[in-house]
Amino acid sequence: MIMNLIPLAENLWTVTQPFRYLGLEVGTRMTVVRLSQGELILISPIQLQTDDGATLNALGTVGHLIAPNQFHHLYLGQAQSLYPDAMVWGVDGLAEKRPDLKLDRLLNQTGSFGNELDYLPFEGFGALLPQGICLAHETVFWHRPSRSLILTDTSFHFDEAYPWVTQLATRVLGSYNVLKPSYFEKWGSRDKAKVKASVQKVLAWDFDRVIPAHGSIVETDGKAQFKAGFEWFLEEVL
Ligand SMILES: [Fe+2]
Repeated sequence: MIMNLIPLAENLWTVTQPFRYLGLEVGTRMTVVRLSQGELILISPIQLQTDDGATLNALGTVGHLIAPNQFHHLYLGQAQSLYPDAMVWGVDGLAEKRPDLKLDRLLNQTGSFGNELDYLPFEGFGALLPQGICLAHETVFWHRPSRSLILTDTSFHFDEAYPWVTQLATRVLGSYNVLKPSYFEKWGSRDKAKVKASVQKVLAWDFDRVIPAHGSIVETDGKAQFKAGFEWFLEEVL
């Protein structure tokens, strides 16, 4: 099946594929950003088929492949074989977790791609996983021209677009029809002061749209919703 790229704004697209976590259909989303020079950045690559290469090549030159946290690396190797010349970016700890991947750079500090895409490490944020508590080492992105915040697992937004079992489970876990992390992340993030500092840096960015990797995109009012989600997470007014 050829992927269905959805244009969100000029030089910004997303595409989703089915993905199950703990038996629930939660989907997963890749975001594609085109820089002014025509270079494409793939954030959280999904499972790319050979035909998808042609779709992306028609938009620009794939120059960067990004695993933005400890968890979104499953299809990176496949993207790497499709685009062997692209620069591959990972995060702290990923090289040990996936020694088979060739990582060129680490996203462990604040930086930018061109004038359009800024990023910063979202420090202190973790998750309670079946194997225990794990730091996500997530990097979050701000696409300045479209005023979009691009997240991976730092907030979710499940709604009626998801199967009823997912809806039910996310109601229990606290992230149904609202943009926020779930209890898994709230319980799995020990250093709330670091998370708060990261949230405040994100809130200094000018954005309206929020693109999570799991859940529906928040097209407007995303900044207030992101802030409210982390007020719940931190249990304090920001
Ligand atoms: Fe995820």
